[in-house]
Amino acid sequence: MKRLKITTILFLGLLSLSLQSIAQSAASRANYDESKVPEFEIPDLLTSFEGEAIHTAREWETMRRPELLDFFTNQMYGKIPGDLAITKWEVIEEGTGAINGKAKRKQVDIHVENNGKKLSFNILLYLPNNVEKAPMFLGYNFYGNHIVYNDPNIRISNAWARNNNTYGITEHRLTEESRGAQTENWQVEKMIDAGYGLATIYYGEVDPDRDDFSDGIHPLFYNEGQDKPLDNEWGAISAWAWGLTKAMDYLEQDPGVDASKVVTFGHSRLGKTSLWAGVVDERFAGAISNNSGCGGAALSKRKFGETLEIINNAFPHWFCDNFNIYNDNEEALPVDQHALIALMAPRPVYIASAEEDQWADPKGEFLSGFYATPVYKLFGKSGIDDEQMPGIHHPIHNSVAYHIRSGKHAVTAYDWEQYIKWADIHVKNQ
Ligand code: GCU
Repeated sequence: MKRLKITTILFLGLLSLSLQSIAQSAASRANYDESKVPEFEIPDLLTSFEGEAIHTAREWETMRRPELLDFFTNQMYGKIPGDLAITKWEVIEEGTGAINGKAKRKQVDIHVENNGKKLSFNILLYLPNNVEKAPMFLGYNFYGNHIVYNDPNIRISNAWARNNNTYGITEHRLTEESRGAQTENWQVEKMIDAGYGLATIYYGEVDPDRDDFSDGIHPLFYNEGQDKPLDNEWGAISAWAWGLTKAMDYLEQDPGVDASKVVTFGHSRLGKTSLWAGVVDERFAGAISNNSGCGGAALSKRKFGETLEIINNAFPHWFCDNFNIYNDNEEALPVDQHALIALMAPRPVYIASAEEDQWADPKGEFLSGFYATPVYKLFGKSGIDDEQMPGIHHPIHNSVAYHIRSGKHAVTAYDWEQYIKWADIHVKNQ
């Protein structure tokens, strides 16, 4: 019996080592040479799958948008198995005098319940004092709400977290050590000064970011005997996007919020999430994707930096199982990520890259915006007209917006300055 156990452990260990090395070797084969980008045809957004030409915003909305949305839903991010309303929300803490006396703070628990199972997550809100109903940025953070600002009142989440030495996270628990540690990445004070509120959620409370479908929101929808989503059902990105739509349900009730002016924001995997949430829930006034890369804003067919095979092997829980069909088979995709950007139309969308973030393919991120622009034009909106990428720190602030800044994969003060300027034009003063 004991021997059997040891053999099984050894076998599983070897299996996971070899899976890891397959993923690593695929990652080490990533292409960073522009001359090796394969030739590919970019799927025409203004021709339906059946070959019919789309001439008007109405034809886009009635024919083309639904079929593209259906593709992304059932073949990529995965469908949400059902509707689930908030059972109850509770303001667990609130205070004035936050952010150097300029804002109110509110911490709200959202509870949902289904099939006898429950889930709760917390939204931290900062609302500017001098605005009656604030336009908002809504986005997930990676390491707990208390990381966004050095405010001793922000409660520390008990949810599972990825270990991280920099933030003092061991044994998968968040601690005091990370309080305020990402103030620079969040720039809450800049938002408040510009008259915006921030609503943020620790993403691990909605679905812990690990390849395990027994936790987070997924089990609330399982049928008897089910232990993972079906092949076309939601992976983690779709689950996180669902959480943002529930946060929106709450924001619609909050008297301090202008719910018609809520923009989703996210960095990296959470930038993929912010785009998908913006697409599925048209209540959002806009979406910002910061360095979202593969499976976010970047074109998959370029196979530059991270590819579908790499991402699906490294993060098998992010997309639905159907999406594996396209591993090293990008040619077979009838869409590309420019279609995801276009699904935001006519609402404003911001794509941001970083020069040193080649893994996320800045050019592929930019081209998505360029190729999505004809759809925005149907609505009389402006996007990206020049196929040449703009220089570093030369932002384009149209309905489809883009910038590339110097530096690494991160969110910086520069990024937030651009988002605020752009939101002033396309959201706040609309
Ligand atoms: C990995 C992953 C990316 C993702 C990033 C992040 O690098 O390969 O797709 O965007 O993590 O979320 O930080």
